[in-house]
Amino acid sequence: MIVKKGDILAFELIKTGVPGLDQVLKGGLRRNSSILVTGSPGTGKTILALQFIYYGSKDYNENGIFISTEESLDVLNQSAKNLGMDIASMVDKGKILFVQKPIATLKGGISSIKGLIDVIKKRNVKRVALDSLIFFEYLYPRFDGNKMEFRRQVLIFMQEMKKANVTFLVVSERSITDFDRLTYDMMDFVFEGIILLSRIRKGSYFERVLTVAKIRGQDHSLDVYPVTIGTDGLKILYDQTPFSLVEKEERGQ
Ligand SMILES: Nc1ncnc2c1ncn2[C@@H]1O[C@H](COP(=O)(O)OP(=O)(O)OP(=O)(O)O)[C@@H](O)[C@H]1O
Ligand SMILES: [Mg+2]
Repeated sequence: MIVKKGDILAFELIKTGVPGLDQVLKGGLRRNSSILVTGSPGTGKTILALQFIYYGSKDYNENGIFISTEESLDVLNQSAKNLGMDIASMVDKGKILFVQKPIATLKGGISSIKGLIDVIKKRNVKRVALDSLIFFEYLYPRFDGNKMEFRRQVLIFMQEMKKANVTFLVVSERSITDFDRLTYDMMDFVFEGIILLSRIRKGSYFERVLTVAKIRGQDHSLDVYPVTIGTDGLKILYDQTPFSLVEKEERGQ
């Protein structure tokens, strides 16, 4: 989808591969942008990133790279299968490249990024997902504790992704118990967009929710939406308001 301002081409939006999320984003993600997906454990960050890569290649013909510091291809493949994605077949077809943690091979900072950029060009890759930001701690162990340098390296990496015309989705962990009391991390300001995943308590169980905290220069919904994960994957119920929020409002909180 091309968003126009008057006769001027403003930017192109690409589909996320996550049902309902494009509606929340009012069209999709801006091509070549860098987006952070963050939230507490088990909220669906990895699944969302997998769908971005899998459906990107399968439905939108955009080759992808999935960089995992978390799980092996075998484990991801199995859980993806239970969610309706056949990652292995896309890997076999050369449409998805899976890079796993032995980041020992990537040591060396910028020179290692060059290797990745070469692959991006050679394979005509349009989407890269990184699960998770911890990757940079492996890549640059010598910057242990130096937050400014860490941030700088992430920025350099992002700029390289942009130059290579790639839409870049990064996963990070953060404990979110309440969207109202969210603390921002200095890394957040580096990304053009932030998608938050969390769980909200509804009586005796928790409901999964998603909200878009920011997308620079783009109109998007600010609501909180229920998320479901099932045999057909992760979905955003964009036409519903979470019950728990409705209840909270009814109680006048
Ligand atoms: N086939 C399935 N059907 C229903 N729910 C599933 C299925 N597969 C996974 N889930 C749910 O998805 C959750 C895991 O999602 P995911 O791995 O994307 O979370 P995450 O945010 O990446 O977690 P972490 O921070 O631990 O990496 C599980 O806790 C489980 O509840
Ligand atoms: Mg994960």
